[in-house]
Amino acid sequence: MKKMGLNEIRNEFLDFFQEKNHLILPSFSLVPKNDKSLLLINAGMAPLKPYFTGDSIPPNKRVATCQKCVRTGDIENVGKTDRHATFFEMLGNFSFGEYFKDEAIEWAWEFMTERLEIPRENIWVTIYFDDDEAFEIWNKKIKISKEKIIRLGKEDNFWELEVGPGGPCSEIYIDRGEEYGCGKSTCKPGCECDRYVEVWNLVFSQYDKDEYGNYNPLPNPNIDTGMGLERIAAVMEGADNIFEIGIINDLLKEVEKISGEKYGKDKKVDESIRVITDHIRAITFLVSDGVLPSNEGRGYVLRRLIRRGARHGKLLGIDGIFLYALSEKVIQLWKEEYTELAENEEKIKRIIKIEEEKFEETIDQGINILNKYIEDMENNNEKTLSGDKAFKLYDTYGFPLDLTREILEEKALKVDEKEFNIEMEEQRERARNARDGSKREAWGKDELTSRFKEFKTKFIGYTTTESNSRIIGLFKDEEKVSILKNGEKGIIILDETPFYGESGGQVGDIGVIKGQNFESKVLDTQKTKNNIIYQFVEVESGEIKNGEEVFARVDRTRRKDIARNHSATHLLHKALKDVLGNHVNQAGSLVLPDRLRFDFTHYDAVTKKELDKIEEIVNKKILEGLNVSVIETSMDEAKKRGAIALFEDKYKEDVRVIEMGSFSKEFCGGTHVDNTSNIGLFKIVSESSIASGVRRIEAITGRKVYSHLKYMEEEIDSISNILKSNKDNVLEKVKSMSEEIKEKEREIQSLKSKVASSLSEDILEQKHSIEGINIITYKVKDMDMNSLRSLGDEIKNHLESGVVVLASVSENSVSFVSMVTKDLINKGLHAGNIIREVAKVTGGGGGGRPDMAQAGGKDPSKVDSSLELVEVLVKESLK
Ligand code: ALA
Repeated sequence: MKKMGLNEIRNEFLDFFQEKNHLILPSFSLVPKNDKSLLLINAGMAPLKPYFTGDSIPPNKRVATCQKCVRTGDIENVGKTDRHATFFEMLGNFSFGEYFKDEAIEWAWEFMTERLEIPRENIWVTIYFDDDEAFEIWNKKIKISKEKIIRLGKEDNFWELEVGPGGPCSEIYIDRGEEYGCGKSTCKPGCECDRYVEVWNLVFSQYDKDEYGNYNPLPNPNIDTGMGLERIAAVMEGADNIFEIGIINDLLKEVEKISGEKYGKDKKVDESIRVITDHIRAITFLVSDGVLPSNEGRGYVLRRLIRRGARHGKLLGIDGIFLYALSEKVIQLWKEEYTELAENEEKIKRIIKIEEEKFEETIDQGINILNKYIEDMENNNEKTLSGDKAFKLYDTYGFPLDLTREILEEKALKVDEKEFNIEMEEQRERARNARDGSKREAWGKDELTSRFKEFKTKFIGYTTTESNSRIIGLFKDEEKVSILKNGEKGIIILDETPFYGESGGQVGDIGVIKGQNFESKVLDTQKTKNNIIYQFVEVESGEIKNGEEVFARVDRTRRKDIARNHSATHLLHKALKDVLGNHVNQAGSLVLPDRLRFDFTHYDAVTKKELDKIEEIVNKKILEGLNVSVIETSMDEAKKRGAIALFEDKYKEDVRVIEMGSFSKEFCGGTHVDNTSNIGLFKIVSESSIASGVRRIEAITGRKVYSHLKYMEEEIDSISNILKSNKDNVLEKVKSMSEEIKEKEREIQSLKSKVASSLSEDILEQKHSIEGINIITYKVKDMDMNSLRSLGDEIKNHLESGVVVLASVSENSVSFVSMVTKDLINKGLHAGNIIREVAKVTGGGGGGRPDMAQAGGKDPSKVDSSLELVEVLVKESLK
């Protein structure tokens, strides 16, 4: 057997399949595109699903890739064993309806035995229990003896995702020799021990599983294979496990260095070192592909990985944050194969750092609290932590549930997850209610995608805003109908449409659709995942019949406003990169008629100066009157031209690039102005943070800037009117007025203190003594609590020893303060107790410290009698 490292095997594999006429594609992003069924790419075939199902035409019928993958299904085992990992690379060769079992098996065999030079006798295979065809190929053609071909059931040898292509499979195992085995006589592929390593899965993809669990046969059977690169590398390097192979071991050594711990000496230490070594790879690649930590979806996967990694850092005794620095090592080790890592280096480090810092603030406190819970549980002999406690750890201290679960499991305890989920759901419900819940339609996009599958629509709205079209689909209340009557709302699908369906952040068009016998208003236009455009309409007169010829017209003024905002978004994107740096990437955008919103990755607030600069550049480019051209080309060509792609897949047949002079080049399917001068003017109206590392800019253009200017002008007019000045010197006027006001305030302040000291003199005269104790009670009018307290302090300062109770009476409320000097506290007097009883008389309540307390009351007419109570209370306290 040859000795080969990770990179050599990867190259050998791709070369081999290139020789077999496969198109080699680079790894796709970890973030799935147009696939809601999947959080993260977890297999080589996942980004290629539409080619298997026939929804898209593949660039070549044979493709091979090395795909980055993340699987977090058994994250709690990562670290505990040396076999589990969340991040891995998968080698795969794929046939989209072309070659099938024979070639897949023969080539796999050829690659294993001739390229990797794995001894034939060490190879075993498994097949789906009734797949006689695969058996024949392995046995007759390849000549593997029948004892080494094991038939297994659906559990092991049927490969599928939640939804999408799948089918029976055949797996290739390598026998590493007896020394790795358990020694049992029954030991063979499938055994739990380390002797037989499963390295390559050949899937004969014949079905497309839908969301209802039906296996729909595919028109052409496909081949999907997957070989874990790290696993095969471990075999080829003769390493015991993936953590010992060259490049991963280099990373592990870095973890040793940072922590000052040694691998292989202590079980617990090893576990933490493995967790960090594995997680940092997943973290680095996820952030590089545009995932940001959040509380939902893939953002939450990332957050869990970072926080789990951070906690194991604490267990290793690492002081403070470290993951962001460690990501540098990952970048360094993998940047040749994954060039995006170096491009995104700064972004990767800063985003990880922000998330680490955030958790760093609460992790110690959270761990202390959790330890306290554990102690209580152990003392009370309880085994389950309540869901609300786990939720508190999540909500206040940022502990993902599985982190809490894992820490508890270390002590053989568990969490009431049902209760936790209820709390979580309640919180979501609150958040949902807080948002605008108005939903236009009960249908989700996914549902519509399969519902509208039969239709084909063509968008002709780039060049026109009107068309004569035909209705090819009519729907009402989720049902297909042949007629839509006056006053009813529904959906129209046209064969050709000038209406833009909401996508790429740009909202859908509105307008009218008219026929011989009807008129309808288009309220909105949307688009399914496979680009079927549909119009939401309301019939204003007559009735619509399915199949009829109609005239469609987009609201042109609104469309133009939208185009201005969309084109301005591109200028803004480029200006942001120019001013803030290349790490700025679009994280989301919304293009509306009256404003635009642009979310982007950046770590600090954008300063006023930077904002000014950005705004200035955009306006400069508007005034330069740059020509806006639309270029339809291939992805490669577009990249060569230097177009900015979003978190796009790396391969796509045709793309549309919008170029504005030579300033901005961006992939985009939206509608734009012809020349940047049509944007008119651009004004930023706000800049804010929406998540850690993500900022948002809102801006306006064209007509909206004009109305904004008008509004500002009118405001200034009204201000000058009120100030009785003219527009030109309104600023001067305001400055001098503000000086005047300050001066007046100083005067008021000094008058107030004069009044207060003369008032306190009056009050001090009320002093009388009961059983040797000085008592002062006094009633004032309309004083707020702060002033009342200051007055109390003033009096107390003049009183060596005594009790003060002051009341301030307003129209229908009363405020009290009471104060007791130190010497009397020792005699049993307590300001809080006194005030409580006093306030009660007026229907109120309150309390406080022994030396000072305050309270509120309700009934002003009872104030005198309440103050009389003070003497009685003092006497009682003295007893
Ligand atoms: N899709 C198959 C797997 O992931 C090859 O195992």
